[in-house]
Amino acid sequence: MDPCLESMKTASLPDLPYAYDALEPAISEEIMKLHHQKHHQTYVTQYNKALDKLRSALSDGDHSSVVKLQSIIKFNGGGHVNHAIFWKNLAPVHEGGGKPPHDPLSSAIDAHFGSLEGLIQKMNAEGAAVQGSGWVWFGLDKELKRLVVETTANQDPLVTKGSHLVPLIGIDVWEHAYYPQYKNARAEYLKNIWSVINWKYASDVYERNNRDQTEI
Ligand SMILES: [Fe+2]
Repeated sequence: MDPCLESMKTASLPDLPYAYDALEPAISEEIMKLHHQKHHQTYVTQYNKALDKLRSALSDGDHSSVVKLQSIIKFNGGGHVNHAIFWKNLAPVHEGGGKPPHDPLSSAIDAHFGSLEGLIQKMNAEGAAVQGSGWVWFGLDKELKRLVVETTANQDPLVTKGSHLVPLIGIDVWEHAYYPQYKNARAEYLKNIWSVINWKYASDVYERNNRDQTEI
């Protein structure tokens, strides 16, 4: 087998950077435990299984199986990638959760969306309108140097909407992200999650990628 394939590390469930109850009352301990320990873990497990099958299929030259595995890899690998970002997008209030971003991200948001409130309203509206399961994203288009709001279905990562898109904040709008606490009130979940959004993380990613773009 190709040594690159053999040495590819398996995915693993990242630790949460805060306690399960640290995001209350915006997101309950029950949801955080289920979401992290059950849902995210399942994506990791299924992704690793699919990667094992892919290694075998590639080794055997089984093209049919290689193609067949793409959708399950996209779904479970996307689930792993998206949730790994999502946990970092959140922070307890006493650790800066909900604290608005500083410049340069703050000025960029004002320029693109009028104000931070304008961005939040747009994300809430688009997140509420996602049919079925998916994500609403706030991202940076590195090529066009502009901020974007996008939605993706299922577990599609933001990059499926454009190879130059970098996620700054992704909000999970699958029912598993809010149903035990908010029932069918997705809009209420979207309204409350901003009180625990980690703008420092978004700012760091923005500055790193904007700087890279400038240096090219
Ligand atoms: Fe989720």
